[in-house]
Amino acid sequence: MDSPLTVAALVTQHPRAVAVLQRHLIDFCCGGARPLAEACGRANLSLETLMDELHAEEARFTSPDTRWDLEPLPRLITHLLERYHAPLWSELPRLRAMATKVLRVHGDKDARIAEINVILSDLADELEQHMRKEEQVLFPMIGSGRGSAAGGPVAVMHAEHDSAGEALRAMRRLTDGYTPPAEACGTWRALWQGLEALEAELHAHIHLENNILFPRALRGGR
Ligand SMILES: [Fe+2]
Ligand SMILES: [Fe+2]
Repeated sequence: MDSPLTVAALVTQHPRAVAVLQRHLIDFCCGGARPLAEACGRANLSLETLMDELHAEEARFTSPDTRWDLEPLPRLITHLLERYHAPLWSELPRLRAMATKVLRVHGDKDARIAEINVILSDLADELEQHMRKEEQVLFPMIGSGRGSAAGGPVAVMHAEHDSAGEALRAMRRLTDGYTPPAEACGTWRALWQGLEALEAELHAHIHLENNILFPRALRGGR
């Protein structure tokens, strides 16, 4: 009997599923190994509704996204670096600066701003170190065809992805799903928006690494 379709497999075969899963708060990067039916059940969503929304989402785009599971690994690595790492290197300092500013101006009105500052600052430190390791050690190893020997580093990257996922969940909880309070100024609103966008980008980024790049590399794929 075929094993049930996992959340990660759905996103791999249908890259547009990212938008649908995010809408229903279904974790597809670190929690991607769960069967899709189980994840839907927990989100109180029928599989039929999910697939209907996915088909509607796919119909909105004439050119489907690249199937990264079918592309050579060096191409996938270039894509990860250009599409996710480079923007993150500039987005993290921007978000940190914005969070510091909102804390200075409004920190006395809402204690959550200080908590967000701590979580974001730790997350940014961790992500910067994490990307450095991927860029300097792991990606070159995989790109040169030695990925099957990278079990140790890959395990470390998985643990760090889990930790980033934890920080994102904490920020989403703390901000009531990034709903700005009525009195929030423009910068405050922009901070919540920026954090929500960071979440979406990181989920898509980690999905490509956890569910496509690393497993293929460990299997000796090229
Ligand atoms: Fe990465
Ligand atoms: Fe990573």
